[in-house]
Amino acid sequence: MKTLIKGGRIATSNELFYSDILIVDGVIHQIESNISGSFDHVVDAAGKLVLPGGVDVHTHFNLHAGSAVARDDFYTGTAAAACGGTTSIVDHMGFGPSHVNNDILAQLEDMVTKEGISSFKIYMTYDYKVSEADILKVMEALKAIGGLLTIHAENHEIIEYLKHKFISNDSIAPIYHALSRPDFSEGDAVNRMISLAAAVGEAPLYIVHLSSDVGLGHIMRAKKTGKIVYTETCPQYLLLDDERYKQDLDEGLKYILSPPLRSFENNGSLWKGIKEGYIQTVATDHCPFTIAEDKQKGREDFSKCPNGLPGVEERLPLMFSEGVMKGRISLEKMVEVCCSNPAKLFGMYPKKGELVPGSDGDIVIIDPTREVTLTKKLMHSNVDYTAYEGFKLKGYPITTLSRGEVIVKDNEFIGQKGRGEFIKRQRFSHL
Ligand code: URP
Ligand code: ZN
Ligand code: ZN
Repeated sequence: MKTLIKGGRIATSNELFYSDILIVDGVIHQIESNISGSFDHVVDAAGKLVLPGGVDVHTHFNLHAGSAVARDDFYTGTAAAACGGTTSIVDHMGFGPSHVNNDILAQLEDMVTKEGISSFKIYMTYDYKVSEADILKVMEALKAIGGLLTIHAENHEIIEYLKHKFISNDSIAPIYHALSRPDFSEGDAVNRMISLAAAVGEAPLYIVHLSSDVGLGHIMRAKKTGKIVYTETCPQYLLLDDERYKQDLDEGLKYILSPPLRSFENNGSLWKGIKEGYIQTVATDHCPFTIAEDKQKGREDFSKCPNGLPGVEERLPLMFSEGVMKGRISLEKMVEVCCSNPAKLFGMYPKKGELVPGSDGDIVIIDPTREVTLTKKLMHSNVDYTAYEGFKLKGYPITTLSRGEVIVKDNEFIGQKGRGEFIKRQRFSHL
């Protein structure tokens, strides 16, 4: 099966150039101008941008969050992702009773070396948080076997203290969710993880969903002293702010997620952190709950509301329009943080996240002139809202290919259910 993508402007993490791309049996075979021959399928990309399919390394499909289950499964979630130009995801497990013992530590090795699962997640908060003593053991084990530890970094004791204080005073509206999880609770946890990783001899460390300038400050200081810490942020922390909790109750409930939305000034710091290379990836933490039912559990008490937002579909269009078109980051930087760096850190590169001969034919074609107002009606996630309702975007994905096959055309998912594949990932290696 031969597919030719003709005449587009190719964007990688380090260059922009005009070229054709020939995909043979799902794999990129040739990237050159004016490729001739006979093809099964030709996609005209003249006037369009051709990027590696997005790689979102932080989703929660089917996550059990106690009172509710995240509404996307692996079909609806990946179909929504594809409609937004994302062709690979790394799903994170939820939180549940957890402990660390020698048997579990030994199993990690098989997961990395035999099963192709090279990253693991620890929550420092929520019920069932993992203790620092156990985090050190996991860090040591993963360092030895080439695994990456990803951390939800918030100080549990600060959060619990504030949460109970607010609730006992009947301060139960969504704004108190944000106030109970202050930026310094993230800062403290980030700093602590950097110290634990140092104690283990610079164990590979990846902070998920960084939300605050305080947390970023700790990361910047650590990196300036030669420490290695990889950091992810998400569109919600770049583009939404805590004013949203002050609107009506249903509106506030939509944005109950952890860490919470921060101030507008924090948004700006994180954009700067991306631009200056302190933040390596933009993922989504996609974790959708409905407003009509799931989020209503927080009506009488913010702490009862399932935490999370949808976003797997919106990420790439937002980063293109709000990031590249508004001049906050270059197109190459967008490809780096949304495609190539995530693929590298999570052991999928250059099969995913890159456009070179030998990479999978996972490609998103963006029409930079298409104007779209984001609204729930356009979205494909199995949930009843988008957190970005009304955002006016310039540029939008028009075609998505996965392993050389067009799976999205003009915002319609046309891929076959079940054609997705588990990606066996390589051991962690540094950027
Ligand atoms: O609020 C969030 N982020 N929910 C999903 C689970 C997590 O913390 O990553
Ligand atoms: Zn988290
Ligand atoms: Zn998460």
